[in-house]
Amino acid sequence: MEDEKNHKTSPSSLPSLCKQLASSTLRESMELNIPVVDLSVSDEAFLVSEVTKASEEWGVFQVVNHGIPTELMRQLQVVGKQFFELAEAEKEAVAKEEDIEGYKRNYLQGIKAWDEHLSHRLSPPSLINYKYWPKNPPQYREVNEEYTRHMKKLTEKILGWLSEGLGLPSLALTQSLGGEMAEYVIRINYYQPSEKSELVIGAAAHTDIGALALLVPNEVPGLQVFKDERWLNVEYIDSAVVVIIGDQLMRMSNGRYKNVLHRAMLDKERFRISWPVFVAPDGDISVGPLPELTGDENPPKFETLVYKDYLHQTFAKWAVEKVYSS
Ligand code: SIN
Ligand code: FE2
Repeated sequence: MEDEKNHKTSPSSLPSLCKQLASSTLRESMELNIPVVDLSVSDEAFLVSEVTKASEEWGVFQVVNHGIPTELMRQLQVVGKQFFELAEAEKEAVAKEEDIEGYKRNYLQGIKAWDEHLSHRLSPPSLINYKYWPKNPPQYREVNEEYTRHMKKLTEKILGWLSEGLGLPSLALTQSLGGEMAEYVIRINYYQPSEKSELVIGAAAHTDIGALALLVPNEVPGLQVFKDERWLNVEYIDSAVVVIIGDQLMRMSNGRYKNVLHRAMLDKERFRISWPVFVAPDGDISVGPLPELTGDENPPKFETLVYKDYLHQTFAKWAVEKVYSS
């Protein structure tokens, strides 16, 4: 404090005033980057506050030192990329049929999305359909299973901090998603480069329909989030995981957590690949503002709906608006 006063009054403090100005300019420009939370910090109260603040103000943040081994993340990327480099006929062996699972190619003219993707459930074990897991490369299954174990641990930690940030016991959100029956789905997005990257979009602007997504990108930038009326690039940080708050966490928190609008752009020269894992409630569970958070003073802002019904309603709306090609 004393120091600060001196800086303002004495001419000899000019260099440090410059330093202050420089650091505040730096801070402003750094504010354009989405928050980064270092999970190696052992102060739980600090983590609750950081993760909560980021979810309220941004609806998106990156985590580093999150406990998922870097080597495992690298393997996940290698086996995913190897799958997309197979001949088309081999990829078609796990083609999408009716549900959300399987391989699909969307390089069609006039369609908003321009990607190839593969999705399949990772958990709960009773809902896994290995028919949609590539047999080639042979390590695909083992790597994805190991990744799922780490992904679930990290997700539950984040949900614990987000529960505490709402003043609830740390298991509150995990339990409200159905506990062990919560669904984890991976989607590998494989975006071809495009010369016309200003005209064609990889993933059109949307919010995620589930509770949250934990995404790992390759080094090619493209993910953007909408904040304060502008699109901001998500900076690539080696080995970081991007956490995206989806519709259900917004609904459960009665609007405290923000479901961030985001999109994916294409690169002109390089393939962009992303590996989001979507965490969603068990389909049979009712989802809405948590009763502990609402009352006369704080009426529910959202309708409580069985999650399956919420999905049907939203997909029907998307079909009318032609929002998304899945
Ligand atoms: C998505 O949100 O659907 C994809 C985001 C990405 O590819 O980074
Ligand atoms: Fe998304």
